[in-house]
Amino acid sequence: MDTTANTPTRPDIGDDELRGLVGRLTLEEKVRLVVGEDVWSLPALPGIGLRKIRMSDGPAGVRGVHMDERETSLLFPSPTAQAAAWDPEVARRVGFLMGAQARDKDIHVLLAPTVNMHRTPLGGRHFECYSEDPLLTSRIGVGFVEGVQSAGVAATMKHYVANDSENERFTYDVTVDERALRELYLAPFEAAVREARAWLVMSAYNSTNGHTMTENSRLQNDVLKGEWGFDGVVVSDWMAVRSTESAYLGGTDIAMPGPNGLWGDALVEAVREGRVDESVLDDKVTRILRLAARVGALGDTAPPDGVSTPEDARAQLRAIAARAMVLLENPSGALPLDASQMRRVALIGPNAVRLSAQGGGSAHVTPDHVVGVPEALGEALGPGTELTVSQGVFTHRRLDFLPTAATTVPDTGEPGVLVEFRSTDGTLLDAERRRTSQVVVFPGIMPEGTATIVMKARVLPECDGVHLAEVAGSGDFAVRVDAAEYRITLAGERDDPGAALMRPPLHRFEVPANAGTPVDIEVTYGDGAELFIAALGIGWGSPRRAEDDELAAAVADAAAADVAVVVVGTTDDIESETFDRENLRLPGRSDELVARVAEANPNTIVVVNAGSPVLMPWRNDVAAVLWAWLPGQEGGAAVGDVLTGAVEPGGRLPTTHPADEADVPVLSTQPVNGAHHYAESHTIGYRLWALRGAKPAYPFGHGLGYTDWAYERLDVSGDAASGLTVNVEVRNTGVRDGREVVQVYLEPVSGELFGTPEPIRLVGFAPVDADAGDAVTVAVAVPQDVLARWSPEANGWEGPSGRYRVSVGRSVADLRLTDEIEL
Ligand code: BGC
Repeated sequence: MDTTANTPTRPDIGDDELRGLVGRLTLEEKVRLVVGEDVWSLPALPGIGLRKIRMSDGPAGVRGVHMDERETSLLFPSPTAQAAAWDPEVARRVGFLMGAQARDKDIHVLLAPTVNMHRTPLGGRHFECYSEDPLLTSRIGVGFVEGVQSAGVAATMKHYVANDSENERFTYDVTVDERALRELYLAPFEAAVREARAWLVMSAYNSTNGHTMTENSRLQNDVLKGEWGFDGVVVSDWMAVRSTESAYLGGTDIAMPGPNGLWGDALVEAVREGRVDESVLDDKVTRILRLAARVGALGDTAPPDGVSTPEDARAQLRAIAARAMVLLENPSGALPLDASQMRRVALIGPNAVRLSAQGGGSAHVTPDHVVGVPEALGEALGPGTELTVSQGVFTHRRLDFLPTAATTVPDTGEPGVLVEFRSTDGTLLDAERRRTSQVVVFPGIMPEGTATIVMKARVLPECDGVHLAEVAGSGDFAVRVDAAEYRITLAGERDDPGAALMRPPLHRFEVPANAGTPVDIEVTYGDGAELFIAALGIGWGSPRRAEDDELAAAVADAAAADVAVVVVGTTDDIESETFDRENLRLPGRSDELVARVAEANPNTIVVVNAGSPVLMPWRNDVAAVLWAWLPGQEGGAAVGDVLTGAVEPGGRLPTTHPADEADVPVLSTQPVNGAHHYAESHTIGYRLWALRGAKPAYPFGHGLGYTDWAYERLDVSGDAASGLTVNVEVRNTGVRDGREVVQVYLEPVSGELFGTPEPIRLVGFAPVDADAGDAVTVAVAVPQDVLARWSPEANGWEGPSGRYRVSVGRSVADLRLTDEIEL
């Protein structure tokens, strides 16, 4: 794999040449570039050899320009999982794979990674960010950016900055002191700009210290472009630009989406009338042309040769998902499972039958397939073990789409769903036969003038009974199910346009049906006016038993098996963009399910399928707990690999997991009078847990494996000016080969810095592999800039001085060796 990041594709393209090209553009052409051509692209300007630049979300895969099954994408484990590998090389591999797929899809700019912080576990996009620790976030972010850009595709660091929760996301103002900004929230951006030379930064929706980010000249012009020397492009988050002149002067270079934002004609006018200087526009355009050259979209520049999705991409995703899984509990070695000893395994749980492979929101992609747990575990256990499967409880807000194998177009009998696009007067503009009963369209990917969308499908029920049909979307619907007709209007809960897309309102109908007798469904969407954006879907559910009976059946399965594997977790309706989670509990009756199964069978293994922390009140009453994250399209296979021991679960928690909501030091995501005051300053996550003294369920850095480790030697050298080298010798004392993540923490012996309590913090880490019985020594570098702290008094970085404790171990709460040094 080539990871030579940032190699310009035509190294001799210099700033003078770029400025020369800018000089050949008219004012109108320059403005067309900075407002974008449509939702995802910048226009081509053939006169100067500029080709179209296409952008795509996001951190879990390269979605492309469609948001439904017309464009499938490799679906990666959630970014929290990517961080849980604690391995920049894994992040680089993830980045390169995404870059390669972007190249296949003719995408030049990937809108990822998301490097906001895990300030509170309730944050809706928590799963999309890496960690509560700025160093871990930075190291993973740098690896990811280098990987993406080595494929000739631009990475975008988002969302700049302090965009750490979703409620009131367009408007809240974060008040945060400079030390916290520098050490936590800005740190991953700074690392990616200085080290990985990230080519874009995305300006966030929120305000920071009184200025909305797209207009935040201090943070965008002074800090990002000035202090850090960022020579790339600042793209606004979609619809984040609120003004013409202030955002133009505030450091934002592109106002997306195009073409009709606040910058078009209004900006031309503002420049013409001399209200803003045209040189600012020239700088923006120079940056865009530099980006174009970097991604091979200008003149004779070209991206690196021979980059495309490798054939073993699926195997790589499976390995990454397994590597990221965290073994939280395994007190008596119930894992790995020994199939030769098991006659029957009961696989139970809502997420066992419907794996949550990803979270919701703009990070959502449509994978070609998702490997489920039942098929993968069945294969991993082999034919000698019987596998029973039961759901136990119902936790999904939405039904599945119409079953592909049993759905046809009514008139033709061809497989799929017919989707018609009609104009205001009913004229048929276009019709498509689609594989799923979901449509997401916006300008550019919907026939111009569309006012009505009609979906027609015929479903063949597999059994007799009352089925459920569901319509999802925001707006007016006319629905026909066989002879019955309904008119419904569904309204979104809030005025965030994204919410209608990401958690649409639903309406359900009961449909009595018989096996083999087809049911015709026709959904007509639209109120007669021309559509701008539409997201609608039809769901379908077979008859189900009452939940009490379902639960009792699962418990009976568990009692009759040698081992029960319960898979519980969240869904993409719980972890998603546009809203925060309401609490940390598993949905519905999940906890009751685990407790009752564990009572029925002492060999109960729980697999948690979630992207961010949930409470696990039963965690000490079960034989093992495996945290599987939102594991991506190969997730089921990776779960099978880890449960049966084909692969060691190599992950460590990138964030603290609480035992109780009351203990969480920062929990609320609700702004108070439109503001979030980050009163805890530079101490979030485990640092604040340490200061407060509460004990979490699982500390930051925690993760067991299938072997044991002894820390045998610690040797610290260096100083504040040149950085430290921390040599650590660890021995694999178990009987299996394994992987350890050596973690290095630092704290002042006095417990104070700059006159305030200073908690312990991570300053380095290194993953190591060792065969059973072997010892390895790893040298962890702690560079000078990691040691430095932002002094409020000097208003600048200062190296530490005084006596410090350096500790190494398996988590922040499991430190095995300690040394003291004078800095
Ligand atoms: C999200 C961004 C995303 C953009 C484009 C916004 O709602 O905040 O992360 O890149 O949409 O989809």
